[in-house]
Amino acid sequence: MQNKFTVTPWEVSGEVDYDKLIKEFGTKRIDPTLLERIRKHTGTLSHFLRRGIFFSHRDLDWVLDEYDKGNKFFLYTGRSPSGPVHMGHVATWMFTKWLQDKFNVELWFQFPDEEKFLFKDELTLEDTKKWTYENALDVIALGFDQKRTHFIIDTVHANLMYKEACRVAKKITFSTAKAVFGFDNETNIGSIFYTAMQSVPAFLPSVLEGRNIPCLIPHAIDQDAHFRVSRDVLPKLGYYKPAAIHDMFLPGLGGMMEQGKMSSSEQHTAIFTTDSPAVVREKINKYAFSGGQATVEEQRRKGGNPAVDVSYRWLTFFEEDDRKLKEIYEDYKSGKMLTGELKAVLIEKINAFLKQHQEKREKAKKEIDKFIFKE
Ligand code: TRP
Repeated sequence: MQNKFTVTPWEVSGEVDYDKLIKEFGTKRIDPTLLERIRKHTGTLSHFLRRGIFFSHRDLDWVLDEYDKGNKFFLYTGRSPSGPVHMGHVATWMFTKWLQDKFNVELWFQFPDEEKFLFKDELTLEDTKKWTYENALDVIALGFDQKRTHFIIDTVHANLMYKEACRVAKKITFSTAKAVFGFDNETNIGSIFYTAMQSVPAFLPSVLEGRNIPCLIPHAIDQDAHFRVSRDVLPKLGYYKPAAIHDMFLPGLGGMMEQGKMSSSEQHTAIFTTDSPAVVREKINKYAFSGGQATVEEQRRKGGNPAVDVSYRWLTFFEEDDRKLKEIYEDYKSGKMLTGELKAVLIEKINAFLKQHQEKREKAKKEIDKFIFKE
């Protein structure tokens, strides 16, 4: 049977075939040579790279060439405020922080607070404003360096962004927008314009500094469509093509096959940064798809299947210690470890992380103003 899946900025579903995505989107796999080049700068490699979770890129080699010549890049990523932050977002941003720390670079973080307002019927601009604040707390809690991290919020920084967005928009025809994003005559015109706003932070620092600065965008691969357009347009405006580094999706608890990525709209298969320890325990115990056998006896005899087990997959994102992870893998596969025990390991890992995260999130309320970009 043909495995069907969809990866667009609006929909991720089915069992994602990442090799096929690389071919379809025309990106490059992060190969051992490139990993070695990164390691030369960073000393050790993040587990997100070691395990191929960040697996694909555009022009990352070029960004490193420039860096070697003393031409530092800046990082750009973002979050469309539309609901609570879940562990999938956290993973992408943990790696972004790792990049910021290791390369000692600026990060521009966009909160396009108009995006989901335009694309979803039920969200008001008041809702997205509230979520901007809530989501910003999560970003700060992850420990980004305040001096080198700049939040831009589309409706707040419109004064700065709109002119640049117009320059981008003028270079994108409706037929390109239709072909890339699948728009039709029923699409509202705000949605059609939106991609221009998502392009702006990829060159805004160059505008502000008055010189061209390379941009590297860490993002989940579903956003690639936007940046294909940016890469086409920015050189026409005299800027570099933004480079990108892409990660795989953290599966929802329901499993890799059920669901392409974790989704905030599916409450019980997502774990949010604000979930209590009891809620985390219940969600994982109840919903985390298991690669284990039906009975203890069978599990002991045949062993579990880590390849389809969501708890194990989650540990590849959140258990950094390779030795521990390998031990879990072997114990689970051999039947020495039971599904309940594997889940208990994950529950402890996530709850330990969230305990700290939630404390930092509280403290972030006092820091938020310092992160918001001021001209
Ligand atoms: N469109 C993204 C979302 O739906 C938000 C976003 C804006 C973004 N700029 C970005 C994501 C840059 C990654 C990189 O959440």
